[in-house]
Amino acid sequence: MNAFKNSLDNPSLQTLFNGHPDLQVDQNKGLLFKEANLTEIANQVGTPTWVISADILQTRYRRLVEAFINEQLNVSIHYAIKANGHLAVLDLLAKEGAGADIVSGGELKRALAANIAPAKICFSGVGKTEEELRLALQEHVGQINVESREELQMLSRIAQDMNEMAPICLRINPDVDAGTHHKITTGLAENKFGIAYQQAIEIYTEAHQLPNLKPLGYAVHIGSQITTQTPYRKAFSRMVELITQTREKGLSVEVLDCGGGFGITYFNEKESNPQQIASLMKSKLGSLNIQLYIEPGRWLAGPAGILLSRVILRKNNGQDAAPFIIIDAAMNDLIRPTLYEAWHGILPVEASTYKNNVEECHIVGPVCESGDTFARYRQLPILQPGNIIAILDTGAYGSVMSSTYNARPFAAQVMTKGDQYTIIQQRQSIEAMWENEIIPFQKTK
Ligand code: LLP
Repeated sequence: MNAFKNSLDNPSLQTLFNGHPDLQVDQNKGLLFKEANLTEIANQVGTPTWVISADILQTRYRRLVEAFINEQLNVSIHYAIKANGHLAVLDLLAKEGAGADIVSGGELKRALAANIAPAKICFSGVGKTEEELRLALQEHVGQINVESREELQMLSRIAQDMNEMAPICLRINPDVDAGTHHKITTGLAENKFGIAYQQAIEIYTEAHQLPNLKPLGYAVHIGSQITTQTPYRKAFSRMVELITQTREKGLSVEVLDCGGGFGITYFNEKESNPQQIASLMKSKLGSLNIQLYIEPGRWLAGPAGILLSRVILRKNNGQDAAPFIIIDAAMNDLIRPTLYEAWHGILPVEASTYKNNVEECHIVGPVCESGDTFARYRQLPILQPGNIIAILDTGAYGSVMSSTYNARPFAAQVMTKGDQYTIIQQRQSIEAMWENEIIPFQKTK
């Protein structure tokens, strides 16, 4: 992940296009996302609007599947639905055969609403409530990844009470640095996630002794937006060691859930290559005779989405020659730049804008916080009020992290297929933002 760059660090438009082959400029139609005409979508649906490409989602899912087939490795893909849990996205991936990695009762119900088979659902998360665990057992999810001894005991008690067997994996914290932004690193001992590596066998043994638990194996997830193989290599080595030692104690280990975290190209990072992931898994884990799972979120959905926005106005402050381009999307829509100083590519949309001279500018939203900044010192064709821009790679951790801060309604969402598009979420009405609010203590006469 990249902090805001100065102008020299920012890639040229050409470099951005090179890293984003699904985007092209048509001389007449302007920016196309695969074949979808973004100018038309922005003009017809309004802005801000999230666009998700069914074609890209499908292609990426199939690339992952193929990579494992090429390695003759049996790996089940559990899409991490926190990345983008829209029912249209889940429906598409479910039809491709994906299972789901979920982290809440809400996500469980979403996955079921999209007809994902309960057996293909894996329930992760560091703090599942009793109610959520009951729901998971009642729906017979395939696997619950337990993150502490306390949770293990709680689950055993609940399962006993419900007269159900709980299929579990222990999520292990391997104390491996994923080399990613500190807010999305999860596999270090200092992080809240998982069971300490040193305690794994002891707690796995306990899992065999506690009633109504069916221990299947282990899970590991070390972080997100990981763009090198080294952290995975280290984490897998530690898991192989653990599985070997566990089996030596006479305990069976049938499942290893390898988590997600595969990185994508936002700036100039090299996106994780499915074939390399598959071959690493084959070489490290292929001889374990074990069922393997992965839980990708960002890699599948990130590059499949963009956020369309329109320029409200331009202004200059003080001596800085670079103007502020104020757009109608803000941190309430896409919070990643504010929260992680994440870098997202930005491209003009209309064909006419590509003919303008390039200038250095800042792209900011209208929210009353300086952190509401999408880009600093970007080289972009001169943008005037009314022009449309696309913020790239926002299919994952975009719309799902939106809020209505500053009383700004949730943006519309569309899904594209070929040159067609369809609205998959209407723009929220202003009034809908307070429809569930209650004014208390009103005097009645
Ligand atoms: N499995 C578990 C247990 C997870 O916690 C996560 C993500 C995933 C799988 C999927 O990771 P992915 O393949 O998407 O990297 N909001 C942040 C990312 C938070 C990721 C949290 N856990 C962002 O916008 O960068």
